[in-house]
Amino acid sequence: MTEEQRRSKKRKRGNHRIPTAAKNNASSSTTTPSGVANPTKSSSKSKSSFLDKMKTRLSGGYFRMINEKLYTCSGDEALEYFKEDPSLFNVYHSGYQAQMSLWPEQPNDVIIKWIKDRSPSLVVADFGCGDARLAKSVKNKVHSFDLVSNDPSVIACDMSNTPLASSSVNIAVFCLSLMGTNFPSYIQEANRVLKPQGWLLIAEVKSRLDPTTGGADPNDFVKAICELGFASKSKDLSNKMFILFHFQKKEKQKPRDINWPELKPCLYKRR
Ligand SMILES: C[S@@+](CC[C@H](N)C(=O)[O-])C[C@H]1O[C@@H](n2cnc3c(N)ncnc32)[C@H](O)[C@@H]1O
Repeated sequence: MTEEQRRSKKRKRGNHRIPTAAKNNASSSTTTPSGVANPTKSSSKSKSSFLDKMKTRLSGGYFRMINEKLYTCSGDEALEYFKEDPSLFNVYHSGYQAQMSLWPEQPNDVIIKWIKDRSPSLVVADFGCGDARLAKSVKNKVHSFDLVSNDPSVIACDMSNTPLASSSVNIAVFCLSLMGTNFPSYIQEANRVLKPQGWLLIAEVKSRLDPTTGGADPNDFVKAICELGFASKSKDLSNKMFILFHFQKKEKQKPRDINWPELKPCLYKRR
């Protein structure tokens, strides 16, 4: 095969490979690390800070690419995507942490506080747990699920199909994790594993549930979850960046046709 044929094949495949330098730099997508080898040589210093800036831009770009992928594919496709290259998960999470550091309040903190204010005997399932910060912050037994496991406590799976027994948990949490196009199947899975009277907590990015900017109507979202068999307990709009919903599973549920709203992807702008 000629060099040109090889290049054209690569173009057709859609090159999603991320250079190692960008992966290694993933932890610094908003700040520029110094990384200067010899502080006495100013030209090598400015060269390396230029390179650092370029790497930072690259890793920010890769974060946005992975983020868009996760919002525009189904959970099983996302699982395959990370199986092919698990290191992309770290690239995504470094970029995500950088974005989160700009938010005035973290939804995870609000959820952690809510759980801490309740009995530590309540069993929690954290759907799309990321770095499992929730599990590390409370005394409760927490089952943590994500597409990749970077911690022995995290079970790697597509969260529409967890290994939990039916009616086995008291609190199900989705903190900014309803990313897949099949997000209703994640909520249905939470419904399966929750005990009657169990709590369903959902934090979602405000723009996804803001009809004035093309997002879904939060009332339609609440209605769909109520049709599944939950009572809506609160809808907290007080945070600038996210909405937090509390639902409680009804004792008896009647199967119904549910009209799920579409949730648009949350795409981060290049800064
Ligand atoms: C925006 S991050 C939030 C992480 C964590 N909940 C937090 O608040 O820090 C969303 C997480 O959901 C995970 N996720 C998305 N779809 C998933 C799926 N189908 N199954 C398991 N995890 C999923 C992603 O891999 C990612 O780690």
